[in-house]
Amino acid sequence: MSEIEDYLVEQNWADYREDEHAVWRLLFERQQRLLAGRACREYLHGLRSLGVAAGGIPDFRRLSDILGQATGWRIVAVPGLVPDDVFFALLARRRFPSTCFIRHRDQLDYLQEPDVFHDIYGHVPMLMNPVFADYMQAYGEGGVKALRLGHLGHLARLYWYTVEFGLLATEEGLRIYGSGILSSAGESVYCLDDKRPHRLPFDLRRVMRTQYHIDRYQETYFVIHNFAELFAATRPDFAPIYREIAALPDIAADAMLPGEHDMEHEDAEPRIGKKEGPHLSAARV
Ligand code: PHE
Ligand code: FE
Repeated sequence: MSEIEDYLVEQNWADYREDEHAVWRLLFERQQRLLAGRACREYLHGLRSLGVAAGGIPDFRRLSDILGQATGWRIVAVPGLVPDDVFFALLARRRFPSTCFIRHRDQLDYLQEPDVFHDIYGHVPMLMNPVFADYMQAYGEGGVKALRLGHLGHLARLYWYTVEFGLLATEEGLRIYGSGILSSAGESVYCLDDKRPHRLPFDLRRVMRTQYHIDRYQETYFVIHNFAELFAATRPDFAPIYREIAALPDIAADAMLPGEHDMEHEDAEPRIGKKEGPHLSAARV
């Protein structure tokens, strides 16, 4: 086991330069415009309550005080990606590791590694939600176990398709809760408005079998109805589930299985569908 303390650093907030704060402001203002009507209510509420503002890169200590009061989570500063065992141990203790550096002005649109904008603007507001906060801690505990069982790959897909790229079906239509989308200008529009990606109902085994790309927009998104549903679906012991899916083939990132159909017709365009009756989607299968 790596020592957690070896991977923690100080944010040294006073050392950020004005041009770094200026990049934060650019990213922040752009996302604020895009996320109204696209991000889920829980996220927007968390963002407001944290007072993560347009002014510049936030001081982690100030955010941690507010976050700690709300759900007991704290932000700890790390230099970049940390080893899996450290990452899971931190989450299991309600510590969210955040990078400190901010992307350069010519990388505003896409960055493969997380930076402070992704970590703070994308992830931390969701940790203000009590159910999601518990889910993230449980995920950390599940990570320790998955490592021991040799099923990290399967569990990582769950994180990817929920915490990073999850969509939520609401009365008003699909909304974003995945942090990888929330911090990306291009993908926050693409994931809802583009015809190409599949939008499938969340299914634990389906998600764990589905490959993903880290270098382009997603080809498939999984949709939940609320965070309690997500948490309930992930509560069972994964050990037998890992064994079960290990015997099945992986599913390509862009594949649809027989009998599956996209949710976009009922949830993206569909106020009409809702009025015609609740069983429209079942009738299409
Ligand atoms: N129930 C999972 C297990 O037994 C743990 C988990 C909970 C994983 C929530 C992810 C999210 O491994
Ligand atoms: Fe992330």
